[in-house]
Amino acid sequence: MSEALLKRILEGAVKIEEESYALYVKAQGIAKLPSSKALLSELAEAELTHKEKLLAIMEKSASVYWAGVSELGSETDQIEDLKIVDYMPDVTLSDDADYPTMLIYAGKREKMTYEHYRSLAEGPFARYFPQASELFSKLAEEELIHKNKIEREYTERVLKKN
Ligand SMILES: [Fe+2]
Ligand SMILES: [Fe+2]
Repeated sequence: MSEALLKRILEGAVKIEEESYALYVKAQGIAKLPSSKALLSELAEAELTHKEKLLAIMEKSASVYWAGVSELGSETDQIEDLKIVDYMPDVTLSDDADYPTMLIYAGKREKMTYEHYRSLAEGPFARYFPQASELFSKLAEEELIHKNKIEREYTERVLKKN
């Protein structure tokens, strides 16, 4: 595995984080409750932080990297995958999408991102690039935390209302 491949993978991850950030910024405009807006703002910030960590690795800024990686992930490693969006049909996000649709879209996106990072953290990639693998492992945990938060929001705001 080459440095060029590592670069492509990191660039792809930066793009994923930029798109996730844009999604949560847009979602804040769809949400009505202040508590929902606050949750989405927190998630937008988290995706920006992920992008910064990835850029730090790309720029080989070791001090930023090591300061950053330890802050990421779950303290307990016990993140519950609620699997609420997993079996729902895929949705598209049109400009007039409602809040429940946006939550399903976001939850599925977190699932996809979680799986992508976890495969990078565990596969052959990990043997060649242990430092990047450690970051992807932490990022995977964080995306699963995001999925959990989105699914709890969906339970509160959508499932309990119907
Ligand atoms: Fe992220
Ligand atoms: Fe996320």
